[in-house]
Amino acid sequence: MTLKKEIIKEMTVDKLNVTIFDSADIMANAASSFVEKKINSAINKRGFANIILATGSSQFLFIEALKKKEIDWQKINVFHLDEYKDISANHPASFRKYLKDRILSFVNPKKVYFLNGDAADCEKEMRKYEQILINHPIDIACIGIGENGHIAFNDPGEADFNDRDQVKLVNLDEACRRQQFTEGWFPSFDDVPRKALTLTIPAILNSKVISCVVPDQRKSKAVYDTLNGKINTSCPASILRTHSQSRLFLDQFSASRLDF
Ligand code: GLP
Repeated sequence: MTLKKEIIKEMTVDKLNVTIFDSADIMANAASSFVEKKINSAINKRGFANIILATGSSQFLFIEALKKKEIDWQKINVFHLDEYKDISANHPASFRKYLKDRILSFVNPKKVYFLNGDAADCEKEMRKYEQILINHPIDIACIGIGENGHIAFNDPGEADFNDRDQVKLVNLDEACRRQQFTEGWFPSFDDVPRKALTLTIPAILNSKVISCVVPDQRKSKAVYDTLNGKINTSCPASILRTHSQSRLFLDQFSASRLDF
């Protein structure tokens, strides 16, 4: 019997610490242990932690693993990254529903701050969320990378590394909308919303620590561009290379275009 290696390779690209794991399960467990440690160290220091949770299919295993960790959720304020504009909180593709169904209803955090994509006054909702974020410095942001290289809903055409806002309204590009349709969140491509509310790149980078979980072959180009391209908005995730407390968790499939 051959013993499978759990960690295939570790490396640092600029400031970004990258680990390639043998499988998505092992990757998700390692990422959740890392996040557990960071959360518990924030709780030990000041009694509570502020965290951002990403949504999307790429986060399923990570979220499952995080639920099982030793974390006092009564001391945690939870934020999220993005929400489709004008989608109701019980639409199957709503990120609020995703979080409620997949983790919040099990762990019962101290407080959850939802970004209401269907707020009657969208501008007011975004400025309100921005103020809440300013008042709650984020200890750890748990994020993913989309097939088009986006982080949150900052697609290449909309990402701005110097955004002055923390939350903004964006147009979703075709690749992003196609990914959401192909994953089965919407009955047709036309049903995928064209707009969304998202935390901006500076809002994500303001987090003390960033844990980015990216499994799957279909992310291999985005991962390659994140680590090998120039740091610019053609691949928004490339900005992670400038954050000194950022970690990227890959499986052997998302890492398959890398040299290892
Ligand atoms: C998605 C979500 C984000 C997520 C990112 C990558 O579209 N809006 O919350 O972090 O993009 O995840 P995935 O590729 O699984 O959608």
